[in-house]
Amino acid sequence: MTAPPAGRAVPRRPGPDRDAALAQYQRRARVYDLELAAFEAIRRAALRRLAPRRGETVIDVGCGTGLSLPLLREAVGARGRVVGVEQSPEMLALARRRAEAHRWRNVELVGAPVETADWPWPGDAALFHFTHDVLQRADAVANALAHLKRGARVVASGLRWAPRWAVAVNAAVYVAARRSVTTLDGLDRPWALLEQRLGPMRVTTSWLGAVYIAEGSVP
Ligand SMILES: C[S@@+](CC[C@H](N)C(=O)[O-])C[C@H]1O[C@@H](n2cnc3c(N)ncnc32)[C@H](O)[C@@H]1O
Repeated sequence: MTAPPAGRAVPRRPGPDRDAALAQYQRRARVYDLELAAFEAIRRAALRRLAPRRGETVIDVGCGTGLSLPLLREAVGARGRVVGVEQSPEMLALARRRAEAHRWRNVELVGAPVETADWPWPGDAALFHFTHDVLQRADAVANALAHLKRGARVVASGLRWAPRWAVAVNAAVYVAARRSVTTLDGLDRPWALLEQRLGPMRVTTSWLGAVYIAEGSVP
C-alpha cells in the first residue's frame, strides 16, 4: 500500500469488518446525503462511464441511501430495472423511503451483505460507487459478479491514495476513509480484486490521483 500521510498511524485490520461497518453507517445514515454532496461530480462521471441503457438491469452494489437510484432508473426507463443491494438497515431504509416517495416501480432493494445477497435479475451492468469495503472482500466481489450476465459492464469509483508527494491530498483521503470504510487495505488499487476476475480494467484518475474510476466487463 502507498504510504498514508506522514505522521498518521494506520490501523491494521485484516480486511473489512462487517460489525464495524454496520455501526459506522448506523451513525452516519442521517447525514450521509449531505456529506456526499461534494462528491456528486464523481458519481455523475462514473454513471457516464457505466452508460446504462433503456431496458437494462443495473445493479447498484452497496447502494446506501440510494443517491444513484434516480439517475440509474431514469436511464434504464420503465422497462428496465435497478437493483440496489445494501447491508445497513439505516441506509437501506432511506433508500426505500426515496423509492416509495417517488413510487418508483423499476427499483428493487435487497437488504443483505453483498457477499451473501441473492437476486433473481441478472445485471447488464453493475456500479460499485464508493464501496471500498465491498471491493476488498473477494466473496462479495465474486457474488456480485455471479449475478451479472456475460459481457456485463462494471464500473467502480471512489477514493484512493494519491501519489506519495501529494501529502495534503492523502491527509484528506485518510480523513474521508476513516469515516467511510473499515479497512485501509487496498486503497492504492481499490479495484484490484475486481480486476482479478474481469481482466485488465480501464482506470482513470482525477483530483491529483485521489479519485479513480475503473471500468471493465464480465468475460
Ligand atoms: C460510502 S457508502 C456508498 C453508498 C452509495 N454507493 C453511494 O453512492 O452513495 C458505502 C455503503 O456500502 C455499504 N456496505 C459496506 N459493506 C457492504 C457489504 N459487504 N454489503 C452490502 N453493503 C455494504 C455500507 O453500508 C454503505 O451504505
